Amino acid sequence: MKKSVFILIAVLFTASVMIFTAGAEDKDAAFVISKCSVCHKIEKVCGQIGQKNAEQWAVTVKKMAEKKPGISDVEQKQIANFLSTAKDRKALCTE
Ligand code: HEC
Repeated sequence: MKKSVFILIAVLFTASVMIFTAGAEDKDAAFVISKCSVCHKIEKVCGQIGQKNAEQWAVTVKKMAEKKPGISDVEQKQIANFLSTAKDRKALCTE
């Protein structure tokens, strides 16, 4: 009996963590799309997912932010972090 309660709690905990992290990723993706698809298609960005490391993304994001003010330093870090940790282009592009 005790064991099954423990398993139930473990399952619920794992499920809620998964839902939480999936939700956070979607929110970040929506944020990046809103900031980075103003001047060009988001495909320009998602095509390079997995090809640039964190440093290279930081350089690209900074270059883009300099073209058009409105992306704060904190947001630039957030975007570069998302782009360098996204596992595949599906994180941004649907197809
Ligand atoms: C003010 C308009 C503008 C915004 C906003 C913008 N870009 Fe760009 N982007 C450009 C232009 C113009 C080019 C092509 C010229 C160049 O490479 O600088 C480009 C090119 C690119 C390239 C290909 C060239 C390279 O350096 O790899 C990537 C990747 C890119 N943008 C990513 C992004 C990301 C990520 C964001 C959001 C942080 C973003 N862009 C927001 C205007 C913009």
